[in-house]
Amino acid sequence: MIQIGPYKLKNRLILAPMAGVTDRPFRLLCRRMGAGMAVSEMVIADPKFWKTTKSLLRLNHKGEPDPRSVQIAGGEPEMLAMAARMNQEQGAQIIDINMGCPAKKVCNRAAGSALLKDESLVNSILKAVVEAVDIPVTLKIRTGWDTDNKNAITIARMAEDSGIKALAIHGRTRTCGYGGEAEYDTIAAVKQSISIPVFANGDIDSPEKAQFVLNHTQADGLLIGRAAQGRPWIFREIDHFLNTGTHLKAPNAAEVGEILLSHITELHHFYGDHMGTRIARKHVGWYLKSHKDGNEFRATFNKIESAQQQLANITEYFKRLSNGEDIAA
Ligand SMILES: Cc1cc2nc3c(=O)[nH]c(=O)nc-3n(C[C@H](O)[C@H](O)[C@H](O)COP(=O)(O)O)c2cc1C
Repeated sequence: MIQIGPYKLKNRLILAPMAGVTDRPFRLLCRRMGAGMAVSEMVIADPKFWKTTKSLLRLNHKGEPDPRSVQIAGGEPEMLAMAARMNQEQGAQIIDINMGCPAKKVCNRAAGSALLKDESLVNSILKAVVEAVDIPVTLKIRTGWDTDNKNAITIARMAEDSGIKALAIHGRTRTCGYGGEAEYDTIAAVKQSISIPVFANGDIDSPEKAQFVLNHTQADGLLIGRAAQGRPWIFREIDHFLNTGTHLKAPNAAEVGEILLSHITELHHFYGDHMGTRIARKHVGWYLKSHKDGNEFRATFNKIESAQQQLANITEYFKRLSNGEDIAA
């Protein structure tokens, strides 16, 4: 069982932080669909951004089950420490530091995985954030900043020595962006080098791949990002496979329709109808990516401005599909 500070996770599967995706409605949905934890979108460390609508929505954790992990992003130790404290006050139970996203800069300073190049700055950040809060701090990194400079082991040891309680590693370097395939050898080497929980990340998109990555890296858990977009039930499918070695039946059209309707309804409530209808469009696109008639439906759907009409169109679409068809990919 994975333990992060006082929190025991119910399984080994975590929704990876994704800016613009892992908002509260999606986190709640993924938890309901079997994720053991769901990391929030990053909160920019600079306080001048905290009052924007976007940031205020990111600070909202109402109704979220334990443990609530909030990611912070920035490049200055003091500012990150302040952001960690503020998020603790707002209900975060775990603070996750972003050294994993490929964005070169946050607020004109090196941030995300670009920090990996400056090990002494990494050290100062880790120490400042751990000292600033009473709750566990975790770290998310890539394998290094480029393929000739994979310093994940050095950073991992530094993290453990600084009091970081768990480490997630995406099996790509910063310069890889999202190109090529994630590699898991470096993650396996990191797992051998430290004793805090290690979460493997990158391209895990099926129960078999999840099993392979766990076997190969001996990681304690897995972070799943893009594969959960439009497919939040992937968590229960992977969990079932890891526990039993058998496949859970894919959800049928009626169930996918119910899941999507509840997701879109929550987006409307959370963001309000105007913003909610816009955000709903990209999620609907992901859910219907593998559908034969998905593109046609989306072309019409993306022009709808009313929340009620969006729900009516989704209901109608899935009613048609439910006539005996299994559509979930
Ligand atoms: C749209 C999008 C937004 C992301 N935002 C963040 C972020 O805010 N913080 C972060 O650490 N990683 C971020 N990531 C990286 C993911 O957490 C994850 O490491 C990466 O997508 C690889 O995992 P996957 O192959 O399962 O998607 C983002 C990825 C995507 C696709």
